Amino acid sequence: MSFKSDFPILKNKVREYPITYLDSAASTQKPQEVINSISEFYQNSYENVHRGMNTLSIKATDMFERARENVRSFINANSINEVIFTAGATDSINKISQCLPQILNEGDKIVITELEHHSNYLPWLQIAKKFNFVIEVVGVNENGNVIEQDIIKACDQSTKFLALTHMSNVTGQIIDIKKIKENISSDILIAVDGCQSIAHINIDVQDLGCDFYSFSSHKLYGPSGIGIMFGKEKLLESLEPPSLGGGMINNVSLDSFSYAMLPNKFEAGTPPIEAVAGMNTAIEYLNRLNFSDYFVEEKKLRSTLINHFKSMDEIEFYGYQEDINASSIVSFNVKDKIIMIFQPF
Ligand SMILES: Cc1ncc(COP(=O)(O)O)c(C=O)c1O
Repeated sequence: MSFKSDFPILKNKVREYPITYLDSAASTQKPQEVINSISEFYQNSYENVHRGMNTLSIKATDMFERARENVRSFINANSINEVIFTAGATDSINKISQCLPQILNEGDKIVITELEHHSNYLPWLQIAKKFNFVIEVVGVNENGNVIEQDIIKACDQSTKFLALTHMSNVTGQIIDIKKIKENISSDILIAVDGCQSIAHINIDVQDLGCDFYSFSSHKLYGPSGIGIMFGKEKLLESLEPPSLGGGMINNVSLDSFSYAMLPNKFEAGTPPIEAVAGMNTAIEYLNRLNFSDYFVEEKKLRSTLINHFKSMDEIEFYGYQEDINASSIVSFNVKDKIIMIFQPF
């Protein structure tokens, strides 16, 4: 089955050659129906959400909340109250990290790994420094992959929080979150960076057993500027939100206010409504394809690419290891060559 024709950008050529796009781990291209849904929303339904009683506002709010329900079902969250729209994974993780002082005490340990993307590394470092939490970074092996047993070992009595990628954006390694959860204290909260796994694996946050799960829409064929912070309802209920503004209060007077119910409590300010429309269409697109059925095919493609490149001396792999559970991601360099092509279509 070919999906290439769904993506209008791939009909273009770069220097006379058809585009072969191998950078979906950085950001995916967009199917025509996602592009259409954004312009359709602007043309026919645009208004702010949750703020007005006019027809357009009701229509926009209805789309927005249906999208939330679609996300809930996509990740099998228990309730729409657990689905918070954010500006992307980085924003989600920063929001969670800003809440940590409400959960942890001085001296409590946060475990992270060397495998993490900067977005799932720096926010924990910063908050730990400010509030005297202890950070333990589980190192990677010579291939750049992490040993799950090392993560389990690092989770001792002082550990209160574990932040982990589900799928590495560099080596493709897939971390068995469920196994780790089963082998550490149930008191340790687990925040999963799902930026890469969301586009390849059927995600079931209840089965994973995580407390938070973050991802960006632009990695799953949707627009940028929108992402999700999943958090367990009880936990989110107990937390004060890190950002304040319009749309997230129940009552306000000159000297006091009360928060709105979940999920609005965590969504201060006007959200990127058209991006929510696009993300919703991207999720519908993926659901229609039964996208996770292609995971085996993706792995075969990865093996084909690796086997081919192995015979080429000029190719240097980063993080490739035959015996780890990995997705279709592979990082490589063409030695002694800096290829930078900036070519308008
Ligand atoms: C594993 C992982 N985590 C976090 C991020 C950050 O995502 P964003 O830049 O969309 O916020 C990325 C993006 O490359 C990623 O691959």
